Amino acid sequence: MTGLPVLLRTVAEVRSAVAAARQGGQAIRLVPTMGALHDGHGALIERAERDGGLVVVTIFVNPAQFGPGEDFDRYPRDMERDLAFCAARGVDLVFAPAAEEMYPKGFATKVEVAGVGEGLCGASRPGHFAGVATIVAKLFNIVAPDVAYFGQKDVQQVAVLRRMAADLNFPLELLIVPTVREPDGLAMSSRNAYLTPAERAAAPALYRALRKGAGLLDGGERDPGRVRTAVAEEIKAAGAFRLVYVEVVDPDTMRPLDRVGDRALIALAAHLGKTRLIDNVLWPGEGG
Ligand code: PAJ
Repeated sequence: MTGLPVLLRTVAEVRSAVAAARQGGQAIRLVPTMGALHDGHGALIERAERDGGLVVVTIFVNPAQFGPGEDFDRYPRDMERDLAFCAARGVDLVFAPAAEEMYPKGFATKVEVAGVGEGLCGASRPGHFAGVATIVAKLFNIVAPDVAYFGQKDVQQVAVLRRMAADLNFPLELLIVPTVREPDGLAMSSRNAYLTPAERAAAPALYRALRKGAGLLDGGERDPGRVRTAVAEEIKAAGAFRLVYVEVVDPDTMRPLDRVGDRALIALAAHLGKTRLIDNVLWPGEGG
């Protein structure tokens, strides 16, 4: 496809475009984003395009998932660049609603996912996952996709949305795309744009630390406490970071493990200057 994608601003327009595509026998594929698109988003979009059908990318900086004092106001926004990014990948439809379209006057509903949403980022960002689950539930209802694409980088978000989709009987599949990294290992993120050159140079320590943790597990370590300590020490040695958490959890439930069995997820969050970064590795399979 050539030219810019069709840019839609209202729920009604999306519903009718999707209905027409579905009537034409096309599968509907949804890639929800907050824009400031990078190659991590690109991997989701490219996967959706390869799978075929109508690809709908949503761009909406969702106020409900930002806490007080977080970066909602300064979150990067560049619609023109994002549209060109989507056009280059053959995206059919971009849905970029105004806040009032998604949260009209009187809006009062919240989707809260207990359990998987409570630890890790759920503990340090109260209300965040309710904001995510609520907006994604709305997008699922508006777009009614057959498949929705999400990134492994936000692994707890995936766990929350899986739980929500199962619990609320959304008739769709979630497809998870591996984390896309910069050549030095830093996980791509729209928030990386906040980093000063010195912070950017320090940032790969997070993935290095996670790999060190995975390496310990490869070597036979089974005590999550020792893995956490080793990861935390590697990050401390890099200076510059304020660690929020490092946890070794069950990849499905996001609960801390007492002892590592045959699968584990090492997940962390840290502040680097004014920027909050997250990353994770699954073990086995991703550490090396
Ligand atoms: P955003 O941070 O824009 O991310 C949109 C999607 O891209 C998410 O599924 C995220 O996991 C994925 N993604 C981001 N960086 C990635 C990387 N380096 N590799 C692979 N995938 C990556 O996540 C959100 O927006 C919002 O919470 C949203 C789901 C849109 C709800 O508002």
